[in-house]
Amino acid sequence: MTKLFPRLFLFLLLFLGNRIVSAQSLNWTETAPGVWKVSVGKPEAYTLLTAAGSQPNRDALKKLGTTAFPLSKNDISIRVKNGKTYLRFPLDRGEQLYGFGLNFQTVHQRGKILKLHVDHYGNKDNGRTHAPVPFYVSSKGYGVFVNSARYMDVYAGTAVRTDSKNPPPAQDRNTDKNWQAQPYSDAVEMLVPAEGVELYVFGGPSTMEAVRRFNLFNGGGCLPPRWGLGFTQRVNRLYSDKDVQKEALEFEEKGYPLDFIGLEPGWQSKSYPCTFEWDKTRFPQPEAFVKDMLSKGIRLNLWTNPYVSPDASIYSKITPFTGSHSVWVGAVPDLTLPKAQSIFWGQFEKDHVSIGVGGYKIDEVDGFDSWLWPDVATFPSGLDAEQLRQTYGVLVQKQSTDLFHKYNRRTYGLVRASNAGASSLPYVIYNDNYSHEDFITGLINSGFTGTLWTPEVRASKTGEEWLRRFQSVCFSPMAMINAWASSTKPWTFPDVAEQIKEISQLRMRMMPYWYSEFAKYHFEGTPPFRAMNLEPDFTGEVKKEMVNTNLEENPYAVAVSKEIKDQYMAGEYLLVAPVFTGQTSRKVVLPKGKWYDFYTGKLAGEGEVITVTPGLDKIPVFVKDGGIIPLMQVMLHAPKPNQKVAIEIRHYGQKPGHYQLYDDDGETFDYEKGQFSWRTISVTRQSDGQWKGSISAPENGKPNTIGNVTWTFMTGQ
Ligand code: GAL
Repeated sequence: MTKLFPRLFLFLLLFLGNRIVSAQSLNWTETAPGVWKVSVGKPEAYTLLTAAGSQPNRDALKKLGTTAFPLSKNDISIRVKNGKTYLRFPLDRGEQLYGFGLNFQTVHQRGKILKLHVDHYGNKDNGRTHAPVPFYVSSKGYGVFVNSARYMDVYAGTAVRTDSKNPPPAQDRNTDKNWQAQPYSDAVEMLVPAEGVELYVFGGPSTMEAVRRFNLFNGGGCLPPRWGLGFTQRVNRLYSDKDVQKEALEFEEKGYPLDFIGLEPGWQSKSYPCTFEWDKTRFPQPEAFVKDMLSKGIRLNLWTNPYVSPDASIYSKITPFTGSHSVWVGAVPDLTLPKAQSIFWGQFEKDHVSIGVGGYKIDEVDGFDSWLWPDVATFPSGLDAEQLRQTYGVLVQKQSTDLFHKYNRRTYGLVRASNAGASSLPYVIYNDNYSHEDFITGLINSGFTGTLWTPEVRASKTGEEWLRRFQSVCFSPMAMINAWASSTKPWTFPDVAEQIKEISQLRMRMMPYWYSEFAKYHFEGTPPFRAMNLEPDFTGEVKKEMVNTNLEENPYAVAVSKEIKDQYMAGEYLLVAPVFTGQTSRKVVLPKGKWYDFYTGKLAGEGEVITVTPGLDKIPVFVKDGGIIPLMQVMLHAPKPNQKVAIEIRHYGQKPGHYQLYDDDGETFDYEKGQFSWRTISVTRQSDGQWKGSISAPENGKPNTIGNVTWTFMTGQ
């Protein structure tokens, strides 16, 4: 007995302190069609989804249909121990993983070790990024989401467990040239520093459907106002109202499109920290100025960071609701508190939104540990500094969107941090990194995370670089020059000024396409900009290659799979393959089926790798067989609500064409009350071999902005 007692005690201690939740006892409930949820241990009340406040679009999820639970439940294990939650999900040999936040260097995430942590991107994909969304999808057609506002460790198929059902063989590096430093791992493992967690699994059956379910679960993608999809110029930080008016006039006179102007820090009386009040020397009459710009068809977007200057009129009112640490000596509002929210956004409403300001660029909510609040900071809500860091970007997006909603005006802005749950919030992420290549990979990865990304243009060394960057930004969620420091304009490089005009006008002409594709993001969850890997006919999992097997140089060889990180899908039918400075030609991987040149309609290739030499004027763009691209007439500003616009419908290829063209007033939230319509476009071949196009009639009582329709059959007969 005396011997048994300590053993029993030890056993009980181990048993209680090491709560393993076996697969069978996990109670997965299907919370929406194809979306399963489980709560393990004691999940925290404050999560990513609470911060975002998003509600699933259940009707749209229903339309996606039911599907079976996509994983073997027995192979999922969750263990809560010493205040931490250990998660394990199975991983097959041939499986690839995507997502785990807004990464900039690789699309394939298998083999990564990440610490998901809101931060700026510092040239490394290590989990510290603007949107470290704890969601991944697999090439096998399912997704996993960990709804926690904690910094989280991810081992995305890196570690080999001794209890693996399918262990890799031990290999002899002396003699076996296939020896690898990273043997096959059969699990995705994650560590959440909390005593429990809420988890979601999204069914497919395809990877795209898993992504769509994730977006719809978060309320669907955002639907920007039409003007948000036009062109935007962010002007020099010290511009006055007169400088802004002069610049807008130059755009008009020179024939460059412009829908909104971004004012950078100098519009505020003080910034870094901020007053959120107009600088009276540069903007003596803000209301009249905003009105004047609106009368010219140009909205204003205001830069800010959320840190409250001691000179701000709201300072003393808000200080009781701010954190223990300052940022640039500005107070950090605890935006989880209703009191802080009403003081903070009350100022934004009074001085900006109520006089017609169209949106915000909310800066510095992401990172640089050396100037943000530290993890030892405390907040009056009692939430941890870490939880605020993971969600601050989401909170500002949600709360500012609600403010515009109150005025029944849509907004479209910029933010430097986001997280899961924010798909429906109309914000685009940006940063200061300025690598064109990484910007494209970021754009691709944004499609796996429910976020939007802009490869903004700032300055350039040459006209060539200016044009190459500009071409990419015109095929992205926000076509923007950010000239806050450089003072550049579209026409800054005279050698390419005409080409810049042409591509920015093309951006405008494509508005019916972009707008419909965003509507599909909103109503169906399909990301408008996304990886080739989400294309059904893309056989992109190119075989593994050993990297550097020279022992002298690298004694730890690792096999990596080749990935496509420099071309992407834009909307239903377009494949975009940007060209980078210095390149004159590039390879493009065309998925199965025929693909046509966007500009000429000629056949470009079919399920093959082609090499293109597009010349400086063109960004290579290809259209899927049967593709329909609706264009509008050239306009320098987005059409006004209910303004009728002439459209040209282009058809490409040999297959009949189908398209759903979305329409509403383009500015208000009336679409939420059913004030929208989808017009069906079809192109079919007639008995004489000629193509014929048709568009369904407008619905009575529904918005209809479509004027004269013309048809162009780009590929001919
Ligand atoms: C940076 C931001 C830039 C610009 C600048 C103004 O943090 O990324 O886009 O707004 O601040 O000071």
